[in-house]
Amino acid sequence: MRGSGGEVSLILGIETSCDDTGAAVVGADMGVRANVVGSQEIVHRRHGGVVPELASRRHSENIIPVIDAAVEEAGVRLADIDLVAVTRGPGLVGSLLVGFVAAKGLAWSLGCPFVGVNHVAAHLWAAVLDSGHPQLPSPAVCLIVSGGHTELIHYRDGRGFYLGGTRDDAAGEAYDKVARLLGLGFPGGPAVDRLAASYRGPLLELPRPMMDSGDFDFSFSGLKTAVALAAESDRDAAGEPNAPRLAASFQAAAVDVLVTKTLAAAERVGAEHLVMAGGVAANSLLRERVEREAPRRGLGLCVPPIHYCTDNAAMVAAAGYRRFGLLGADSLSMDVDPSLGVRRDGGGFDL
Ligand code: KG4
Ligand code: ZN
Repeated sequence: MRGSGGEVSLILGIETSCDDTGAAVVGADMGVRANVVGSQEIVHRRHGGVVPELASRRHSENIIPVIDAAVEEAGVRLADIDLVAVTRGPGLVGSLLVGFVAAKGLAWSLGCPFVGVNHVAAHLWAAVLDSGHPQLPSPAVCLIVSGGHTELIHYRDGRGFYLGGTRDDAAGEAYDKVARLLGLGFPGGPAVDRLAASYRGPLLELPRPMMDSGDFDFSFSGLKTAVALAAESDRDAAGEPNAPRLAASFQAAAVDVLVTKTLAAAERVGAEHLVMAGGVAANSLLRERVEREAPRRGLGLCVPPIHYCTDNAAMVAAAGYRRFGLLGADSLSMDVDPSLGVRRDGGGFDL
């Protein structure tokens, strides 16, 4: 189809909000035909974090080969694409611009509609990919946990309602900072997760910030500081910080807060489902705990497979298809919005 009147059967998604260059081809049934992620981990690792200037330069080099690879892997031609969806924000401005310009150019040259997608919403829509159910379950409480976000959203009647979020560091940011503290490198979440999972001893008692605050906000910077303090005294036989115990104790505290508050939110709003997404939703303990505790409370659970939790373009295609169905195409004069977020005043927003 061409223009905004007809049926969409193939969506091209493009994601360049941070340090991964992603392109994906997704069918209207939300089946993923190809999902290519060009990781820049090797570029940023030696700097201990993402360097924005290096990220945008690498996106510029990667974007065309990554799109070509996705189209080839899907076994389609560019001319078969009916809709181009790209991350509009939030993210690094220089990185976002590379994907945005590529997406607009493609949509223009193919004569097909274009949509700019909120990256936070895209993480949630990852939950429908390859699942056989193209809609998010409703009414649901959604926990979005990534390197930039820790948010609880109530999803009902096709709309999102903000319940709470972090007041300082995002959960993934706390993981990355604890990893740096323990000398585990970048990105830190998977390394802390692995080390914590390998530890089998007693845990340190670390604080669970805001766990009983009665609202649905989070705070992780105090927990990171508590780990730094504990690392001063919790040493192994060689006099080094006891990294496995520190990692496991941090993980236990962080996951405890995330799960307790999410379940409390579900109870408060009368949700019937729990959706969890974002990079930290790949965490083994977090997945294990929600898988155990959601059914006990009669909650349906919807969590994407690990490879759709971290940044990827298939989730952008899914969110773009949803947005196109709700609002139609965006104008090619639309710009990126590095600080795009979700409405926090309790009013509903499209999701
Ligand atoms: O969603 P994502 O790929 O990018 C953002 O939108 O931020 O999330 C990346 C974050 C990083 O902070 C990374 O350390 C964390 O997700 N992460 C994890 C795990 N895998 C990735 N955190 C804890 N456990 C994991 N297994
Ligand atoms: Zn993300």
